Amino acid sequence: MTQIIDGKIISKQIKDELKQTVDKLKTENKEITLAVIQVGNDPASSVYVNNKKKACAYIGINSLSYELEEKVKETELLELIYDLNDNPIVNGILVQLPLPSHINEDKIINAITPMKDVDGFHPQNVGAMCIGGQGFVSCTPAGVIQLLKRSQIEIAGKECVVVGRSNIVGKPMSLLLLKENGTVTIAHSKTKDLKEVTKRADILVVAVGKPKFITNEYVKEGAVVIDVGIHRDDNNKLCGDVDYEAVYNKVSAITPVPGGVGPMTIAMLMNNCVVSALNF
Ligand code: GUN
Repeated sequence: MTQIIDGKIISKQIKDELKQTVDKLKTENKEITLAVIQVGNDPASSVYVNNKKKACAYIGINSLSYELEEKVKETELLELIYDLNDNPIVNGILVQLPLPSHINEDKIINAITPMKDVDGFHPQNVGAMCIGGQGFVSCTPAGVIQLLKRSQIEIAGKECVVVGRSNIVGKPMSLLLLKENGTVTIAHSKTKDLKEVTKRADILVVAVGKPKFITNEYVKEGAVVIDVGIHRDDNNKLCGDVDYEAVYNKVSAITPVPGGVGPMTIAMLMNNCVVSALNF
């Protein structure tokens, strides 16, 4: 029987654990606040931002919303970030990506104080993760590790293949699997014979951004498959980077889309907000 790794159930467990911590902090008159900045009104970003605010409300974290118009000047966004950096009631700052092309994303990420960078995108936090120091870890890869751990899937000693090398998923994912003592390979668009590489994987994490890209012939019998992608297929149905139906009978465990990795990203963001408050 293939194990379906249920991100909805696991993320709810994590959020309930966090809610307990937040409730306890409230008895000590400590409040937690996340500032959420959205530039423009891309519909997908609006859905993500709303889900993040809903999760805050569920756990008891205050959220401050900043909705900036699409053509806002980079300097104006930077000024807002500097204000939030200095605001003692704000524990976390989240700038929803992507940003419009006239704004330099790296400059914005660098402007957020690492102490409030709950997305874990600031180079200081990325560096800390790389060498094993203290800092925020980016939410999607951290969520994948929690999915594996809470599903009793051992990482140590396993062949782990990550397909994709983005700064927010592929690269940090590889480092976290390495930290858990996995034997890690990063595959990407220039990899020769991708199938040969992915078929070695005991744990295959896919973040390529192409709908139903991973089919039966890319996976080993009994592999654990984690699907980070989210798309709409030709019938307007949500699907991942993995062709779920095609690989289901071959693998030992798999995350569905929706309801796999997605909800975990938000749960880990909430975790980072709580950690930020506890460290203040
Ligand atoms: N856009 C897509 N994923 C993310 C994320 O994890 N954080 C932010 N801020 N923007 C995103």
